[in-house]
Amino acid sequence: MKNDQNLRWWQRGVIYQIYPRSFKDTTGNGIGDLAGIIEKLDYLNDGTPASLGIDAIWLSPIYPSPMADFGYDVADYCAIHPLFGDLATFDRLITEAHRRGIKIILDYVPNHTSDQHPWFIESRRSLDNPKRDWYIWRDPGPEGGPPNNWGSAFGGPAWTWDETTGQYYLHQFLKEQPELNWRNPEVRAAMMDVLRFWLERGVDGFRMDVVGLLIKDAELRDNPPNPDADPNLPPNDIFGRQLHVYNQDQDEVHEIIRDFRQLLDEYGNRCGIGELWFELPRWIRYYGENNDGLHLPFNFRLMALPWQAQAIHRSVDELEAALPAFAWPNYVLGNHDSPRLASRLGGQAQARVAAMMLLTLRGTPTLYYGDELGLENGVIPPEKIQDPLGINLGAERTRDVGRTPMQWDASPNAGFSRAKPWLPVSNDYAMRNVAAQSADPTSILNLYRRLLWYRRGSPALYGGSYHSLDSNDDCFVYLRVAGDERRLIALNFADDQRQVSIPGENAGQIVISTSLDRQESISPSGFELRPHEGVIVEL
Ligand code: GLC
Repeated sequence: MKNDQNLRWWQRGVIYQIYPRSFKDTTGNGIGDLAGIIEKLDYLNDGTPASLGIDAIWLSPIYPSPMADFGYDVADYCAIHPLFGDLATFDRLITEAHRRGIKIILDYVPNHTSDQHPWFIESRRSLDNPKRDWYIWRDPGPEGGPPNNWGSAFGGPAWTWDETTGQYYLHQFLKEQPELNWRNPEVRAAMMDVLRFWLERGVDGFRMDVVGLLIKDAELRDNPPNPDADPNLPPNDIFGRQLHVYNQDQDEVHEIIRDFRQLLDEYGNRCGIGELWFELPRWIRYYGENNDGLHLPFNFRLMALPWQAQAIHRSVDELEAALPAFAWPNYVLGNHDSPRLASRLGGQAQARVAAMMLLTLRGTPTLYYGDELGLENGVIPPEKIQDPLGINLGAERTRDVGRTPMQWDASPNAGFSRAKPWLPVSNDYAMRNVAAQSADPTSILNLYRRLLWYRRGSPALYGGSYHSLDSNDDCFVYLRVAGDERRLIALNFADDQRQVSIPGENAGQIVISTSLDRQESISPSGFELRPHEGVIVEL
């Protein structure tokens, strides 16, 4: 075990993702802003256990953007969208966050720009424009039509025909998100300068959007069909019907990742996080062969699994076994691209067990705003859907359900805004909000606070080793150990009570239950967990 001194902030700390549009609006336009985030910093961490107690904030994109994909279509990488504020407000956010010991992580969107980015406006002007090769332009395929068979993740083909110059350009998301050509050295240099710009401003790290897509097959070969594709996919879901062999995860991408890492190392104590969905053996390569890759390739593996103790136990053990010694684990259970955690797991009790698990596994947890209140999927009437994924590929896939406004109190619009919010506030806001849950000693918010502050004081939890234990099929039980400090975590995934025994142990003390109503000694013969209850036991 490394001792505390050797742990970096991004190893020891907890990351909290803010979707800025939905966090807190101070201007009265129904859209959240940077001043709102500053206003709520004390909620996130004021140095006392009355606050949530997170260590870093990751902000989804705040740059100028036409908002075709709500900021993931960037029109200027080195400025702030006026909806959110300006650079002066951003600097104030950095100062105010740092004053509280909170790090700031920005979203870096390197794979594509907006079609309104000056680079693309130039590039599409003429075949011999100096920026032509900054994007991926191709003649039609041999039979006419797109250059290859790739699909866009947002529906339809990944190629759009451009009348002016008579070529297609590549976009694996919206046609408003043309893909940069990372094989071009000028693109690489310009995009490295973007990182420098923010590093100089004091940013502590980056979450790199679809970073495994930066390099595509040099010959842009056709992807093979996916034999296991769901036969009921909508006709325009070309992407969903293919195996993604040539459009992503090409070996040459690691060169670029190493450059990112080198730059972060030059500045020191900064963190590189990547959005990577690949299978374990491919995914793990993004840590680099020799600690020269990303610090934290996001681990989404638990999000894809059913809420089932043994499936999760296996996934965690697999990860622990596969990681090289230098690589630090991390876990994500919710984000702006997924349904709400509480809805996905089927209830509030399950969401509490998930919170305990996320905050006690070995590695860096990333929380998604509102999950600390147990927010459930928003109900978005079809005509109010904003997300292009929901509009193009079916209402049931809209990501809006997980992007509804933060629920601060029981006042109109949940205290999020004076104006009508850009997405409807969930119906449960009068009951489920920060103010109400702060006043309720056993609320899920107070569980999150308790877990976060307990973790902060526990070397076993933030830095210790992990050992899973055998138990009945419905429980996931593990030990975290640092020196003499030993903590047992026992999580019951079942609708019924379950008995847990702790072989070889003398006795212990339950210090936190997910219901926040239980602190008791337990005997060597074991103890009972109520349905969907988790506990931390001091041994
Ligand atoms: C990532 C983002 C998602 C966005 C997409 C295109 O997956 O998380 O929100 O739509 O990239 O940038």
